[in-house]
Amino acid sequence: MKKWRCTVCGYIHEGEEPPAVCPVCGADRSRFEPVVETEGEEVDQPVAASGPGASVADHLHPILAHFPNGLMPSVFFLLIAGWLFGRGGLDEAVLWLVGLVTAVVPLNLLTGIRDWKRFHGGVSAPIFHRKIILAVLLGLLGLAALSVRLFGGEGLYPVYLFLLAGMLAASAALGYLGGQLMFGSGHRDRG
Ligand SMILES: [Fe+2]
Repeated sequence: MKKWRCTVCGYIHEGEEPPAVCPVCGADRSRFEPVVETEGEEVDQPVAASGPGASVADHLHPILAHFPNGLMPSVFFLLIAGWLFGRGGLDEAVLWLVGLVTAVVPLNLLTGIRDWKRFHGGVSAPIFHRKIILAVLLGLLGLAALSVRLFGGEGLYPVYLFLLAGMLAASAALGYLGGQLMFGSGHRDRG
């Protein structure tokens, strides 16, 4: 059985022909190349920088990407703890965490675009478009949430919670897509 590798995300497809579109990143058939195998051993090309030669700068995007992924669930933990135990101070902590997530978004975008060019050749594939749109959405939701909380009245508190829920969903979706890109090379499909 022939194997085909998506040159954008590393996804491996098994079949006589490459798939019409990559199920991981959405790149079209032209982005697939045949996998050259040596005696019993597959020649594998790393998608991202790793190993002894890689520096912290090489991993800036994955490091920064964990800020929203880690902090947004913390935001909801603190909100719920604040309600359950009547600790008003936690609401202030939530505000600072939302500010931190929002401030990190532009850095996430810049380092993400840098990695897109370095590791994926800047190829225009749906997964990258979705990631950029979700990151912009996360930043806008953060700005809206901060504005509503700082300058809106108490009556707007439900709107604030709604915006925070949107931030949680956007950060979860970004984390999911990032995982698809990073570990797409581990996905195999027979067709
Ligand atoms: Fe792909």
